[in-house]
Amino acid sequence: MIFSMENCIKKYFITTYGCQMNLHESEKIAGILTSLGYEEANSEVDADIIVFNTCCIRENAEDRAEGNIGALKQLKRKKKDLIIAVGGCMTQQPGFANELHQKFPFIDIIFGTHNLEDFANLLKRKLSSKKKIIDVLEKEGPIKEGTPKTRTSYPNAWVNITYGCNNFCTYCIVPYVRGRERSRKLEDVVNECKSLIKEGYKEITLLGQNVNSYGNDLKDTDFATLIREVSKIKGKFRLKFMTNHPKDFTEKLIIAISESDKVCHTVHLPVQAGSDRILKLMNRKYTRNDYFEKINLLRKYIPDVAITTDIMVGFPTETEEDFLDTVDLVEKVGFSGAFTFIYSKRDGTPAAKMDGQIDEEVSKRRIMKLIELQNSTNRKQSEEYLNKTIEILCEGFDEKKNMYLGRDTHGRMAYFSSQEDMIGQFVFVKILKTGGMSLMGELVR
Ligand code: 5AD
Ligand code: SF4
Repeated sequence: MIFSMENCIKKYFITTYGCQMNLHESEKIAGILTSLGYEEANSEVDADIIVFNTCCIRENAEDRAEGNIGALKQLKRKKKDLIIAVGGCMTQQPGFANELHQKFPFIDIIFGTHNLEDFANLLKRKLSSKKKIIDVLEKEGPIKEGTPKTRTSYPNAWVNITYGCNNFCTYCIVPYVRGRERSRKLEDVVNECKSLIKEGYKEITLLGQNVNSYGNDLKDTDFATLIREVSKIKGKFRLKFMTNHPKDFTEKLIIAISESDKVCHTVHLPVQAGSDRILKLMNRKYTRNDYFEKINLLRKYIPDVAITTDIMVGFPTETEEDFLDTVDLVEKVGFSGAFTFIYSKRDGTPAAKMDGQIDEEVSKRRIMKLIELQNSTNRKQSEEYLNKTIEILCEGFDEKKNMYLGRDTHGRMAYFSSQEDMIGQFVFVKILKTGGMSLMGELVR
């Protein structure tokens, strides 16, 4: 009999919902499974373990996750040994793990955001017993260092700098499911970045719900200091970070960014709304004027900075006048990109109890107007690139276009053709065609 190793290797398949934070956490789950001898499967059907890393920031992310979990019922029936695990923000909501267990009794492991790093033990417990494991910790514990990671975004590498959030914006569920803000030690972050550059990564993105408050719980450090320290690492690489909070985005930090030869000239500064009344109801702790002042400071020190943002429409009680304040702010700032969202009611948040929830149709009309406005700004900004040569970091290959793609320091995407594999290289591209957000050009030798 021929013994095939192939059959012995167990395979995992992970589906991630939500933001970069979640994508990086999936890299940790993949890292843990890799250290246990698992390999990545090409599809759910080939997998021995399927993990859903969920998000609950908006209702549609939750609905998608539940739909996809439900669709596995048949596969689980056919493949008795298949393990299905569900974790992340969604399961961390009070009472949700039990609800999920009732709804989908075939799930084998339900875990939360606070014990993701303990996934190896959860899996071992499951493999040695027939029982379902439902283990969601109510409170966050101390930061765990040294979790293995199977990274998936070369040439970029994500690096956590803070976990949790203390801001309690009234619409947001994050502080409830991710606990209070905790900062990693500066030397742990810098050492991780050093190893990544040594391994050949060309871009580092520092991650936190509010990176600007990094170090508030540590002695003698802050985000500006961290930026300076990471920028000192030798070698050519780009440094990015997300997400920022206007109330904590200081002149000291702007100066540190402007003096670094590593930090990209793009800043994501979520404004959420342009009306002071709505900003107050959101508990954002800045006014539209404060926001304009930050933009002016940024442009004073970094004249070519590209500013992107998050904007929400349909927050409870938002009037047409409030919305027009947002439109006006968007027009005045001239963002280089904007993620636009319709407010989604999240149980347990203060906004969910507010009177004056906005009709879906009204919110849809408002978001469409914002999207159109932003698209037209994008087109105008893209046209300015025509015939210019820009340095981009090649980050992938687009199969449909049959072209490589990458971004410049402003985060603008450019496509180009090449016979050689360019992924992970800094290249110069002359822009010959523009459209919407993206650019097309040719390699300049
Ligand atoms: N509804 C809609 N959008 C939300 N965001 C956060 N919470 C909600 C919510 N309840 C958006 C904010 C934030 C981004 C990550 O998600 O704009 O900046
Ligand atoms: Fe949510 Fe506000 Fe914290 Fe961002 S800063 S994660 S929007 S509570």
